[in-house]
Amino acid sequence: MTQSNSSNAGLNRRAFMKSAGVTALAGAAASLATTQASAQESVSESYPRKANGRYDFDKVYNRVGSNCSRWDSPPRRYPGGEFKYGMGVASMDFECAPCITEALQERVAHHSWGYLSTTEPLREEIVKWTGEHHGVDLGPNELTLSDGVYPGVIAALRAFVPIGSKAVIPSPAYSGFYSMARAANIETVDSQMKRVNGRYEFDFDDLEAKMTPDVRALILCNPQNPTGNVWQEDELLRLGRLALEKNVVVISDEIHCDVIRSGQKMVPFASLPDRDVVNNSITATAISKTFNLAGMKCAHYYSKNATLLSRVNQFHRAEISTLGLAATEAAYKHGREWFEQANAYMDNTHTMIENFIKQKMPAVGYTRNEGTYMTFLDFSKVMAAIDAKEQAMAHNARSPEHYFQDWLVHQSGVYLNPGADYGAGGEGHMRMNIASSQQVISDVLEAMAAAVNKVV
Ligand SMILES: Cc1ncc(COP(=O)(O)O)c(C=O)c1O
Repeated sequence: MTQSNSSNAGLNRRAFMKSAGVTALAGAAASLATTQASAQESVSESYPRKANGRYDFDKVYNRVGSNCSRWDSPPRRYPGGEFKYGMGVASMDFECAPCITEALQERVAHHSWGYLSTTEPLREEIVKWTGEHHGVDLGPNELTLSDGVYPGVIAALRAFVPIGSKAVIPSPAYSGFYSMARAANIETVDSQMKRVNGRYEFDFDDLEAKMTPDVRALILCNPQNPTGNVWQEDELLRLGRLALEKNVVVISDEIHCDVIRSGQKMVPFASLPDRDVVNNSITATAISKTFNLAGMKCAHYYSKNATLLSRVNQFHRAEISTLGLAATEAAYKHGREWFEQANAYMDNTHTMIENFIKQKMPAVGYTRNEGTYMTFLDFSKVMAAIDAKEQAMAHNARSPEHYFQDWLVHQSGVYLNPGADYGAGGEGHMRMNIASSQQVISDVLEAMAAAVNKVV
């Protein structure tokens, strides 16, 4: 069963909500006790219980009709039913770790929602996770909680980049960086990465040339969305030393830091063996990608340099929510086993995609992912075959990649993100989210291959 097959049934919002246990609640007249019992019962029915010590990531968990951006936004653009597969926005399709739902249920059982008293236990969990998983020795006072990575990066840009100055971005890079810069009212300059032996690398000559005196910050994506790079220590050190020399603060977005493929090692910028380099940086991160908690709005940023941290804090005002706190704390405390299995599953999915493309869709260029659950596919031959450039102009599309996005939805039902949104180097590419059941991924690949192989 594909998500899209099940989506047809799931488009019936009430049926979906019932199966997800969201409104398995009787009407207003039901007593609170009955209401809670029925919610409890239907949620546990849908739990991803372990069998033989394994969570079932093959299970297609229908998200359609749950107000989820990944599956519920594209149909608004394609109201004719041509959309089938949401492979865009970076959220996972897996049912979340049971420990998270349990913690939320426990908190929801207490029916009062005033201000929080303390966030200390969460800070302690963050410190523990960052130390144990990433080798960064962080003190609870070296971090600031936020309601997303966005607000932290925006505050850092406002602190370090005066209006009229710029931030440099190694690209292709997460499209959100450009909107963060707009929110901070600053300019950006791209430094397009090079491809060397099939891997993206920083172009240090270009970076050096781009770090003119009006460039005051560098936004690093570590690991890199959309290319899937997991940056190595020597690359980061060289980047950090160059930035230091040029008086450019490094803002390292490490939201994808846990999604690392086997054989790769995440190197947090703050773990680099050069104190001056580390002290010239601030890191914004979260476990929202790790556990699919983006809607829970809980993240943090940190710096080993108290002066930099307090400068950012002056431009930041955000608080986390009661449910965000409960969910995130539970994930840190009890979610490790679920995530390790999810990560191994996605590692296999990457391999499955690589093999499929090489064997059945050879006109599409593939770059091997080292981490993240986004993959950046090169459709330039397909775009050339359908005259995407000319067609984009004729149809008033924002770019050939946006034209191709529509083309692919109409031809295959698959919705991907256009490379043009990721800055210089995104041309000819499309970003695909691979965090889904492999049954769905397999249907997606077959649907894309049928469309693509007709024209190339
Ligand atoms: C690299 C990167 N940074 C930030 C975000 C958004 O973070 P948040 O939702 O915590 O603001 C995303 C979401 O996809 C991302 O990929």
